[in-house]
Amino acid sequence: MSNAHGSDDIIIAFWTDCGISALVADAPQNHFEMAQNKADVAVPEGIGGATEPQMTATRVHAASAPAAGPRAALPHHDDGARLLQDDHPQDAVMDAREMARAAPDLPTLHAAIEAFEGCPLKATAMRACPGEGPVGAPIMFVGEAPGRDEDAAGRPFVGRSGKLLDKMIAAIGLSREDVYISNVIPWRPPGNRTPSPIETATCEVFIRREIALVSPKILVPLGGPAAKTLLRNDTGIMRQRGRWTRYMGDDDREVDALATFHPAYLLRTPGEKRRVWQDLLALRARLESAHGFASL
Ligand code: URA
Repeated sequence: MSNAHGSDDIIIAFWTDCGISALVADAPQNHFEMAQNKADVAVPEGIGGATEPQMTATRVHAASAPAAGPRAALPHHDDGARLLQDDHPQDAVMDAREMARAAPDLPTLHAAIEAFEGCPLKATAMRACPGEGPVGAPIMFVGEAPGRDEDAAGRPFVGRSGKLLDKMIAAIGLSREDVYISNVIPWRPPGNRTPSPIETATCEVFIRREIALVSPKILVPLGGPAAKTLLRNDTGIMRQRGRWTRYMGDDDREVDALATFHPAYLLRTPGEKRRVWQDLLALRARLESAHGFASL
């Protein structure tokens, strides 16, 4: 791949800046044209696992996880898909709301998320990362959106941030399997960019339904974007972390809520772990005093 002028490194850096994080085919393919021809994208064998990455960047991926099968190509209007959300933002939100409301349980909700075509992030993500954990979990942690590792695995918080989140959970005497973990947005934004307001508004409908179905004792938004979205305020995370408040569900059910720093922020700013430790102690104390959990 490299040449005498090192230009390949520059091209790869450019792709990376554009949000391209997987190399899946030998030659570039025009997915818009292929969608028009209603032809399937030829999926090279061996992708979706750790097998030989190949040297052409494309944003259409094959997925081998059970959570989602490979998508053929970028859907467009002719296919009846409404991924061009900017043209119909209100319709996308209404579709999402209808699908979410109609879901009586988590498997149905997750299937609805997989099937939803109203968020353009779906087109650039490898697969959806719905939440995971038990119904009735004492604590539900919610981040902003999956990153690269989560996008590859189809599971929330499995990368470096997730490993730190696991340690935070262990610090209060629980394990990952005891709690519920999810994100406001179930698809990775390209290059981990900030989700747009309309993307957030659309996906918020799903996370709100997920919270209602999980029915946790305590909701913990991780980081400013999740806290602002779920707690419906415009307060920075520096001011709202560590303060007990109430999450207001669409069904008028209230849930104890305590926002804290996002683990990714802690990885960059380890000095702030001290404050998160205080939040975790407060969480544990609230579980014991208000929700009948045995003390450690
Ligand atoms: N950051 C998030 O907000 N969510 C994840 O799942 C991973 C990283």
